[in-house]
Amino acid sequence: MSSPQISVAVLGATGSVGQRFVALLDNHPWFKVVALAASDRSAGKKYAQATRWVLDTPMPDYAKDMIIVPANTNAVQAKIVFSALHTEIASELEPQFAQAGSAVCSNASAHRRDADVPLLLPEINADHIQLIKQQRKNKGWSGCIVTNPNCTSTGLTVALKALDDAFGVKKVFAVSLQALSGAGYPGVSSLDIMDNIIPNVGNGGEEEKVEWEPRKMLGKLNGGKIELADIKFSAHTNRVAVIDGHTVCASVALTNPADPQTAEAILRNFSAPESARNLPSSPRPVISLRDEADRPQPRLDRLTGNGMTTVVGRVRQDPILDLKFVTLSHNTIRGAAGASIYNAELLTHLDLL
Ligand SMILES: NC(=O)c1ccc[n+]([C@@H]2O[C@H](COP(=O)([O-])OP(=O)(O)OC[C@H]3O[C@@H](n4cnc5c(N)ncnc54)[C@H](OP(=O)(O)O)[C@@H]3O)[C@@H](O)[C@H]2O)c1
Repeated sequence: MSSPQISVAVLGATGSVGQRFVALLDNHPWFKVVALAASDRSAGKKYAQATRWVLDTPMPDYAKDMIIVPANTNAVQAKIVFSALHTEIASELEPQFAQAGSAVCSNASAHRRDADVPLLLPEINADHIQLIKQQRKNKGWSGCIVTNPNCTSTGLTVALKALDDAFGVKKVFAVSLQALSGAGYPGVSSLDIMDNIIPNVGNGGEEEKVEWEPRKMLGKLNGGKIELADIKFSAHTNRVAVIDGHTVCASVALTNPADPQTAEAILRNFSAPESARNLPSSPRPVISLRDEADRPQPRLDRLTGNGMTTVVGRVRQDPILDLKFVTLSHNTIRGAAGASIYNAELLTHLDLL
C-alpha cells in the first residue's frame, strides 16, 4: 500500500514503552510523528532533555529536539494517538482523544474489557477490529479505542490460537518469567531483583489479565459482540532478572489430543489472516519454532522477526494435561509499542481510521 504520511502522536513518550514507540516510528513508511506528550513534569522540555533513554539503539534524530506537550486534546492533534500511559490516566484521557476524532491505539488495560473495544493481535484475531463500528455507534464518536493485550498474554495467546484452531484448547496452566522492562523505568529496585525471583507481578492484577485476556482474543465475533472462548486458565506470574522478553511455560488440555510432532507442525505453519499478513509490522514468521532442547531464551531469541515474532520451543507431552511448551515474546515490542503500531497499520489498511 502506498500511503500519504498519516499524523501520529505518542502519549507517555518518555516512558519505557513510549521510547519503544519513538524508536519504532523512526522512518515508518506510513506514519509521521507530529507530537510527543508526557506529564507536566516533562512538558515544555526538548525530548532529549526530558527523557532518560534506556534503549540500546540511539534516540532517533527526529525526536531529539521535539518539544514535549501535555497529554490533552488541545495540545495533541493527530489521526492516530498511541497511548503508553498508566491505566488510571489512560482511562480518563483515551476517551477524550476518541471523542476528538483520533484512533487511539492503547497499551493500557483501562478499556481492554469494554465490550465494544477490540483487544487485538492482528495475526490471530484481525476480524475483531470490526468491533469499532459498534463502538462508534455506542459512543457517538468518530475516533475509536483499540487495545493490545498485556505483554504476558501476547506470545501465549498466539501459540494457543494455532493449537485451538487445530485441536481445540480446553484448559491452560501457565507460569510466566517476566522481564524487568515490563515494570517501566526505574521499575523494580536492583536490591529486590538481583539474585532473586519475585512471585507477584502488578500486585496480583497480572494473573487475572493472563487468565482473562486470551479468552477475549480467542473468542468469536458474533452480532457485534465477542463471545469469550470457553477455556479455563490458571496463571502464575513471576518477575525475573531479564531485561527484555517475557517467557511463559504452559501446559494445555486439548479437545482432540495431539502428539508433539503434529502440534509442532501446526505451530510452525501458522499464518496470519490475509488482512494482517503484509503490513509493515507483520511478524515474519508469526511463530518461530525452535527445535533445540534449551530454547527459546530471552537474550538469544527476543529479537526474532524484529521482536514481533512469537518464539515457541520445548513442545512435549504433558503427563497431567496433553501438551506442554515454552513461549517467548518481546514485551516492549510485540507486547507493547510494536503491538499498537501493528494495530494502527491494520486500521489504516482496512480504511477504518
Ligand atoms: N513495559 C511493558 O513491557 C508494557 C507492556 C505492555 C503494556 N504496558 C503498559 O504501558 C503503559 C506504560 O508503561 P511504561 O512501562 O512505559 O511506564 P513508564 O515507563 O512509567 O512511563 C509512563 C509515561 O507516562 C507519562 N505520564 C505519567 N503521568 C502522566 C500524566 N498525568 N499525564 C500524561 N503523561 C503521564 C510519563 O511521563 P513523565 O516522564 O513526564 O513522567 C511517561 O512518559 C502502562 O499502562 C503499562 O501497563 C507496558
